[in-house]
Amino acid sequence: MVIGLSSDHGGVNLKERIKMHLEAKGIKVIDYGTNGSESVDYPDYGKLLGEKVVDMEVDLGIAICGTGIGIGLAANKVKGIRCANLSDTYSAKMAKRHNDCNMISLGERTLGVGLALEIVDAFLGAEFEDGRHSIRVNKIMEIEN
Ligand code: RB5
Repeated sequence: MVIGLSSDHGGVNLKERIKMHLEAKGIKVIDYGTNGSESVDYPDYGKLLGEKVVDMEVDLGIAICGTGIGIGLAANKVKGIRCANLSDTYSAKMAKRHNDCNMISLGERTLGVGLALEIVDAFLGAEFEDGRHSIRVNKIMEIEN
């Protein structure tokens, strides 16, 4: 499994913590930036990571900004992306089990590091349940056409 990460300046510290956490578990990570405190525009980084997920350069994406809202909104504009902005572990599991999300977005300014890492683990550890959920996910994706 290869996980793509991206953030704006408001999410760069949490991105670093998530990268360390995943690499410590032996999970390969590709970091698409940003990599400093200089102000950048979150849509650029949501779009970039969304495209990497759709192009299958990575299996799943985790995008971080101040709240996770803006970068997640941008990612969801990329055709093929289902990105959930998460702040609890139950939703993290369900985002995979029922919604087959291929990206999540998190807020560095709204989540503690401990909770953010638990959300990441809950999402990555869950499996899509398929069945009736495929019909619903397909209906979501049909809206793009
Ligand atoms: C940047 O200041 C901030 O607006 C951004 O990180 C994010 O929270 C937007 O949704």
